[in-house]
Amino acid sequence: MLEGIDGSGKSTQARLLAGFLDAVSTAEPGATRLGSRLREVLLDSAGEPVSVRSEALLMAADRAQHVERVLIPNLRSGVWVVSDRFSASTLAYQGYGRGLRIAELTAVVRFATCGVTPDLQILLDVPVGVARSRMEQTATDRFEHLGAEFFTRVRDGYLALVAADPDRWQVVDGTEEVSVVEARIRDAVVGRLGPLPEAAGSR
Ligand code: TYD
Repeated sequence: MLEGIDGSGKSTQARLLAGFLDAVSTAEPGATRLGSRLREVLLDSAGEPVSVRSEALLMAADRAQHVERVLIPNLRSGVWVVSDRFSASTLAYQGYGRGLRIAELTAVVRFATCGVTPDLQILLDVPVGVARSRMEQTATDRFEHLGAEFFTRVRDGYLALVAADPDRWQVVDGTEEVSVVEARIRDAVVGRLGPLPEAAGSR
């Protein structure tokens, strides 16, 4: 799973990694039909304000559908899956960013994922200033309008999640050029997950 603040470049890298692994490429929120409707509600900056707890539960609902409809079927048939965001996004954004309690959110996340946990989570880490300058041209959704303090809490939150569970994470510096970051992510995946399936890397 690729994680990071908005503007970290993780969507590009998730696609590149999925190509390298010959994996299914997916993303949260919005990978299912229900999810794309939830995504509209979640990112709409013009509609009724979404309460923080509603936001957490809607993210969880999106994830539950994603797990059941996309992740479990693919994993069962032996296909690798690379997801642009997963459970850690809820802990980082709704927990550290919005201020909901991590212990409560952890229970919500566990309920939504039915015990599906990633083999490896990659945090694409970039300073908030760098991420915001990348986002400036495109900032349109409800999250992208949030201020630098919010994204500083989210970034620090990700780093706290890594510190609490280092075996499940690999941190990659996201400030380098796309091809450099891509190579570091490949190294991290090979280093952590061992020899890749035959097809991977030969494409
Ligand atoms: P994403 O699709 O990664 O953003 P982008 O459109 O820039 O590629 O995610 C949309 C927003 O949803 C992003 O600001 C992070 C937020 N989010 C949460 O707050 N909690 C979550 O659990 C998830 C999955 C995303």
